[in-house]
Amino acid sequence: MSEAPSAFELMGGEPAVRELVDRFYDLMDLEQDFASIRALHPPDLEGSRDKLFWFLCGWLGGPSHYIARFGHPRLRARHLPFSIGINERDQWLACMSQAMDELGVEQALRERLTEAFYGTADWMRNRPG
Ligand code: HEM
Repeated sequence: MSEAPSAFELMGGEPAVRELVDRFYDLMDLEQDFASIRALHPPDLEGSRDKLFWFLCGWLGGPSHYIARFGHPRLRARHLPFSIGINERDQWLACMSQAMDELGVEQALRERLTEAFYGTADWMRNRPG
């Protein structure tokens, strides 16, 4: 292969992305620190797990499962029903960071993903403060 490997490949493909998403939502359910963003989600997280998994596969440079099912992600528009400010952004990022730590995502990849997650999460803010 001549092209540089995608973040999806470096992560370890679909099983690793699924593991990351599952840990992310398990932590959101368990940790008091993430209670504000947990409260924005439905009581049953199964649908949220599937959607984030499908989305991240494509976002990381793997298969476009989310687009195949739902079309263009329109991610910012889809988050408008939820009030997202700095606190919610930072809880989301901290939850993802803890999930990456616990799964032992390799350092260089972790830094690359942290930056990319920050950009997307910050773009989702729809409330001042
Ligand atoms: C900034 C803080 C964020 C908050 C508080 C937040 C919260 C939420 C909530 C409450 C839902 C609805 C869950 C459901 O319908 O089951 C959702 C959906 C979703 N979120 Fe986020 N989110 C944030 C950031 C992000 C980021 C950074 C990404 C991607 C990197 C992301 C990707 C998604 C996707 C793909 C969906 C499913 C959209 C759909 O098809 O309805 N979110 N988010």
